[in-house]
Amino acid sequence: MAAARATVAVVATVSVAALSYFLCDFLSQKTQLPRSTKKKKKRQLGTRSGVIGAIGNTPLIRINSLSDATGCEILGKCEFLNPGGSVKDRVAVKIIEELVVQALESGKLVRGGVVTEGSAGSTAISLATVAPAYGCKCHVVIPDDAAIEKSQILEALGATVEKVRPVSITHRDHYVNIARRWAAEANELAAKHPKINQGNGEMSEEVNGFHPDEGRPAAVILNDCKGGLFADQFENLANFRAHYEGTGPEIWEQTDGSLDAFVAAAGTGGTVAGVSRFLQDKNPNIKCYLVDPPGSSLFNKVTRGVMYTKEEAEGKRLKNPFDTVTEGIGINRLTENFSMATLDGAFRGTDMEAVEMSRYLLKNDGLFLGSSSAMNCVGAVRMAQLLGPGHTIVTILCDNGMRHLSKFYNDEYLSRFNLKPSAVGLEFLGIK
Ligand SMILES: Cc1ncc(COP(=O)(O)O)c(C=O)c1O
Repeated sequence: MAAARATVAVVATVSVAALSYFLCDFLSQKTQLPRSTKKKKKRQLGTRSGVIGAIGNTPLIRINSLSDATGCEILGKCEFLNPGGSVKDRVAVKIIEELVVQALESGKLVRGGVVTEGSAGSTAISLATVAPAYGCKCHVVIPDDAAIEKSQILEALGATVEKVRPVSITHRDHYVNIARRWAAEANELAAKHPKINQGNGEMSEEVNGFHPDEGRPAAVILNDCKGGLFADQFENLANFRAHYEGTGPEIWEQTDGSLDAFVAAAGTGGTVAGVSRFLQDKNPNIKCYLVDPPGSSLFNKVTRGVMYTKEEAEGKRLKNPFDTVTEGIGINRLTENFSMATLDGAFRGTDMEAVEMSRYLLKNDGLFLGSSSAMNCVGAVRMAQLLGPGHTIVTILCDNGMRHLSKFYNDEYLSRFNLKPSAVGLEFLGIK
């Protein structure tokens, strides 16, 4: 009897011990961070090297209001947290590393040379932010209808800014073409005056023997003749690679590969192309969609294979065409970067939806986002409606609202286009 009681006691003790061992193990698995996450945390908390090292590895956040309203996990990549304030920091670094560093090493460009770009804002700000880290100057040609904050920031960063009338890309004076020309002229001049290339970068008309054109900002660009490089964000595939090698892999890692869809608008197309191609190389079942603002022909390109907008129909083109209040997205030509995208479909987004979305996110999530990010979130909700609840959808939060105070966040400006946000919830997207 005593032996039997002892056996029961031993069995009970062993069972309790085993149970608590498994329970502890189970709980520790539940509550402790997996090893890879611990490592990641450590890496994130460590120091990074200079402003360049601070670019990328941005957080991916759950946008709570949109997730709760749709039953999907809607995640936003916080690109507005990059040091230059936008997703374009990645592109600026990649372009400079590929183009400028190569040119510096081969002697085609010397320290003090100028990087030129035709950009409505964000890429230029990012180039101006990173150029000094490579000993370069930055000259930017922008359309004169871009928000004033952008040129103010550029000038504060030390870039020179040339504002020009918006004209078609086929016009020789489109801002992109002007920027390309400046780089070529700077190079020609540098080649004609090779000795100046060896100088210390001091500006000297006598040494250069160059007299700037009347009324053109040539003095700033060409004066020290150290060569120029055209960043060319639309056609330069360094843009695509920045996202294929950076943004895409980060999204994949941050979601542990368990996402169902990615959606974003396109300007150059670099983001949507780099991310869509990377994600679909990893898993072809991930749906990649474009959201396209008014006036852009990409929706038709993706859904019907033709670059055409209804605004372009015979006799419909306005004298002073006005397409959208969003900035940095929408385009009427096919860029090299966009051509790299692998897309399953596209949504149209309206200005009203983007404006309403921006105010909704501000009120409900404390997210103060720029116009393209707001449009991306419209796309994310459209994607959730298409897929139904239970899916994980990622989009890009490109920049924040501070660069958009004079237009997108200016009620008086918006009212000129009959844009008066009034929604209480997400009824503007058909969600009660
Ligand atoms: C603020 C902002 N968001 C989004 C985009 C679009 O990104 P991408 O050029 O990669 O298509 C741009 C492009 O300039 C931009 O400036």
